[in-house]
Amino acid sequence: MKKIYLYGNWKMNMNREETEKFYKDFGGQVAGDPALLAAMGKTLEVAVFPPFTSLAAAEGASKNLDKRTVPFLGAQNVYFEPKGAFTGEISIPMLKDFGCAHVILGHSERRTIFGEPDELIAGKVKAVLDAALVPVFCYGETLAEREGDKTFDVVSRQLRAALSGRTPGEAEKIVYAYEPVWAIGTGKSATSNEAQEVCAYSKKLIRELAGSAAMPVVVLYGGSVKPDNAKELLSMEAIDGALVGGASLKADSFLQIYKAYANN
Ligand code: 13P
Repeated sequence: MKKIYLYGNWKMNMNREETEKFYKDFGGQVAGDPALLAAMGKTLEVAVFPPFTSLAAAEGASKNLDKRTVPFLGAQNVYFEPKGAFTGEISIPMLKDFGCAHVILGHSERRTIFGEPDELIAGKVKAVLDAALVPVFCYGETLAEREGDKTFDVVSRQLRAALSGRTPGEAEKIVYAYEPVWAIGTGKSATSNEAQEVCAYSKKLIRELAGSAAMPVVVLYGGSVKPDNAKELLSMEAIDGALVGGASLKADSFLQIYKAYANN
């Protein structure tokens, strides 16, 4: 049975009121489906990643839902120091305070707009693992890198940096998210074959780096995933789920992606 991961990265969107509405609409709709999914032999893990300022609203809204249907709560970034003079940063204990179980790290917007280098991201991956949260590690090539035939070099460099010094047990706990930069927010998703090719390559490399050929590795695809392309992408052998940006902001479209798998 293939377990599917459906993660919604809200980026710098969704205030408290919008967050509460999302939980009301999405949670209410999904209620009951876990049993339905189990009956169909499917399992699904749903998580949402609100901005820091809406974590409290998300945590509060989830208390009104049937426990079995509450999405996991995650954050979009974190700093690795536990506390201190780091103006503007948020620590792992602070995220735990809101019940966060996951943290997105290395998103291309953090890498390109905010200049986060591989080494800083690797330090965050280590700290998040040490704290027993799940790092959702993002990586992927730009359009220029793809056109210059550099996709596999870039993906390899980013994965090697993140996994440097990590044990096989740690490597297995990371959720990997291949997000080609040219597909993010452009409406132009990678084709299912393009995504499959890089996700399959990633799994092989991660297993090699961890020195464990049989290790389970979870790799998601992200980049313009929408209700109309989700079913095909999620059916690919090496793709374990989707990290959705724009289409996760409305309960309606996120739910349609959910149903694309549930009814597949
Ligand atoms: P879009 O789905 O809006 O392209 O964003 C993808 C993404 O960056 C998720 O992290």
